[in-house]
This record gives sequence, structure tokens and C-alpha cells, in this order.
Amino acid sequence: MGENPTDLQSGRSNSSALKQLATVIALRCVECASLYPGVSEHPRYRCDCGGVLDVDAKIHYPLQQEPALQAGFETLATSESDVKPFAGAHWRQLFEERASHSPTWPVNVVTQLPDSSGVWRYRELILPIPEQYIVSRPEGNTCLYPVGRENCGNHRAGHRQIGHYAGLDYLFLKHEGENPTGSFKDRGMTVGVTMANLLGARAVACASTGNTSASLASYAAQLGLPGIVFLPSTHVAAGKLAQSLAYGATTVQIEGDFDDAMRLVEQVCNELGIYLLNSLNPFRIEGQKAIGFELLQQLAWEAPDWLVLPAGNLGNTSAIGKAFRQAHRLGLIAHVPRIAAVQASGANPFFRSFMNGFVSREYVQAQTIATAIKIGDPVSYSRARQVIEESNGVVEEVSDEEILAAKAVIDRSGIGCEPASAATLAGARKLVERGIIKREERVVGILTGNLLKDSQTGIPQPKQGDAITASIEAVRRALANKISF
Ligand SMILES: Cc1ncc(COP(=O)(O)O)c(C=O)c1O
Ligand SMILES: [Zn+2]
Repeated sequence: MGENPTDLQSGRSNSSALKQLATVIALRCVECASLYPGVSEHPRYRCDCGGVLDVDAKIHYPLQQEPALQAGFETLATSESDVKPFAGAHWRQLFEERASHSPTWPVNVVTQLPDSSGVWRYRELILPIPEQYIVSRPEGNTCLYPVGRENCGNHRAGHRQIGHYAGLDYLFLKHEGENPTGSFKDRGMTVGVTMANLLGARAVACASTGNTSASLASYAAQLGLPGIVFLPSTHVAAGKLAQSLAYGATTVQIEGDFDDAMRLVEQVCNELGIYLLNSLNPFRIEGQKAIGFELLQQLAWEAPDWLVLPAGNLGNTSAIGKAFRQAHRLGLIAHVPRIAAVQASGANPFFRSFMNGFVSREYVQAQTIATAIKIGDPVSYSRARQVIEESNGVVEEVSDEEILAAKAVIDRSGIGCEPASAATLAGARKLVERGIIKREERVVGILTGNLLKDSQTGIPQPKQGDAITASIEAVRRALANKISF
């Protein structure tokens, strides 16, 4: 092991932990339902038919919990096809206990580490592995801001503007830009890099519109593993490129767009034995499910009517949809929220397919100012289609102008986000205008990335010559039209 350059492993894999994991997970093709081993020395990212793979896990309630709960252990074991709704109360209690630990990094107490993470707190539903392999910052624990016209609290007049803009009384924004590297990608990356750790991978790689690469670079650096990121040579926001370089990843800029980079990295990983950490990797999707679990917990397990999010490669749509489905099957929530995936109109292949009733899969040459969702051939198309159909969801498109207008509202409220994230608010507003989302329905929108990721697009730039002399008179003149004294 580790001698052939195309071998994945460096010789550090943990075979007993891998064997144990292999007994509880399998990979299922999203297209033809073929089953493959959940873990192997030569990781598989696609079925022989070309379809992408999904983790199919047996979910077990942890044995070491309170004796009163242990009695129900067998009945608490469940899988995708095994509905045990009465178990919901036990799961809720478990997650409440874990969340009640302070979400700070424990210095010495190794066993508390997973509870501090907004991903590993739900570990039985994410990846059942021995805790010593977990690679975590920790991540998650992001705010859920109440910003609707009715649910916005005191001292939040600025935030309420968002509810007014959307036309919604009960709107929450979950800000995934508050993750350690500034985007939701950290939730999938902690699981992907943990798998790389368990497998003893020699290196990890991804293609990216910027956020995945920043996240991979950070987690690979934490583990001390070489990270390689493939980026389109143009249209990557400066903040994201800076992160990848600063965290020390080998950064390969390729001539072409994200779709070209994606095709290349899959080939590179298969041929050179590098572990692939795009959302084609099904374990990334498992981590991103935690956005769904965490927001449900923040809402005291009262599922919202709608979940609205920006959609590019469709990994997040797939992940949150799967989380809601599992939460419902485990009895954690009483109903599955409807999902609204929002695309930029210049990068709208999923919207086009939705409009033709998913009769055909569409592709586009993507073009939008929201570079994070500038994707014309989404990898997780089939997974996401299933989510939209199952949840009675919708796919919407919004123009770049609508994205920028919505971003200005989010920014001016003091919350702020990167351009792609603002597609959430632009899409919610449009769906309310069209009467698809009702103004009194409870809606959660996902903000996927931090404002600082892209400090150029849609942000007023300081003009040369704006500086004033350092005197009180000059300040009075500068503020004359802004504040009355
Ligand atoms: C900020 C941001 N929003 C949305 C997306 C789209 O997510 P997905 O590709 O999972 O659809 C991305 C993906 O890179 C992103 O970085
Ligand atoms: Zn298949």
C-alpha cells in the first residue's frame, strides 16, 4: 500500500475502523440503485452507469446513553426504509443535551469535541466513526436570524427591512457565512477530510468556484495533508483565492470555467490516486445535511413551511433535502418543508429542467455575477431533482440585477452576505410575489457565504479624492446631509 503512485493511501489508513464503518454504510447509485461498499481502498465516486452515489447508512441510537433510553436500542436502530417515528423524542433529547454544552473549543476534553461542532453533534446521522478520527475546527453553530415583519425582535429595525423586502411575516436567515472559513462548505469538508484521515489518503483535491477550495485548503492544512485546488482562471472572488493561497493549498488555475475544472479534477483524482473532495464525494453531502438538522433544532424541531437556498452544483439542495427526509423518518419533525432552489438566470440549467417537468436534463454555458453559482452542468442534478419532487418544492430563477438588489438589502441590514447568497432573498421575494410562498408561511432562507468573500461585487467602492482634511469643520461639512445636529 502506498507504493504505487495511483494508490490513494499513504499507508496510514485505519483498517479496523474502516471495516467497522463498512458494516453500517453502503453507497447507492442515485440513477439505478446499484449498491457498492461504503468504503474501500479505491474510493468510488460514481456508479458503473455514470450516476452519482449516495450514502445509505443504518442509523443507530448510541448505546452509551442513559439506561432508560438503552432499553429502546434495537427499536431505535433505523434506516432510510425503516420508519420509527416514536424514536423522535429520544433523538431530540440527545441533541438537546449535546447542544447544551458550551460550543467552544475544549482544550483537553477530547470526548467533548464532537458536541461542540454543529456537524458532529448529529454524528449518528452524519458518519458513525470513532471520534478520534474527526477533523473539526469545530464548524457550524451559525446564527438563525429572525428577520420577518412579525418575528423580528426588538432593536432589529434594520433586520426587519429584509422581511419587508421579501414580503414575509415569519422569515429566518441562517447565515452559513459564519462558518470557520466563511461558507457552508466547512460542514461537508469536515466530514470529507475526516474520511480522508480514516482512509489514510496521501492528498486531497477539488474543483471549485472558490469556497470549496478555501474550505479544503483550511481542513487539509489542519490535518497536515497536501491540498490541491483547481479554480477557473477568471471570475473567482479575490477573498476566496486569497484563502486557498494563504492556507497553503497547491492552487491550479485552469483555462476554462468551473464545469471544465470539475471534469478535470475527477479524472486527475481517479488517475493519480488523490482523494476527491467535491460534492461528488457522497460524504461531503452527509456533512452538509447538518445545516438542516441544526436549523430544525434552532426552531425547536418545528419544521418551517419552506426552505429557500441558492443552487449551483446542487449539493446543498440535495443535502438539506436529505436531512429533512431523515429527520421526518426519525420522528424529529412532523412534516418535511418544501424546498425552493434559486438559480441565477444566466446559470439556470436546473430551473430549465424544472420548467419542462424534469423531462430532460438541461445544460448551459453559465454567466452570472454570482460566481459561486456560475455552474452550467450541476453534478448533483439527480439527487436535487429527487429532493424537489419529494418535497413538493420549486426551482426559481433570478436576474443578476435582482441578486444585487437583494444583496444591498441584506448588506444594509448589517448582516451582509456574498452575492450568490442573496439569490435566496431575491428568490423568496419573487416566489411571494407569484403567490407560491404565502406571506404568513414560516420560511428559512440560507445565506451560504460571508460578505468578505467578495468585497467588490455589489458593494459601494470608496472613490479617489473622498478623503477630507482632519478638522471638525471638514467633518461637519461631510456629515451635513447625513445627520442633523
Ligand atoms: C456561496 C455559495 N452559495 C451557493 C453555492 C451553491 O451550492 P451548491 O453548489 O451546493 O448548489 C455555492 C457553491 O459553491 C457557494 O459557494
Ligand atoms: Zn447506476
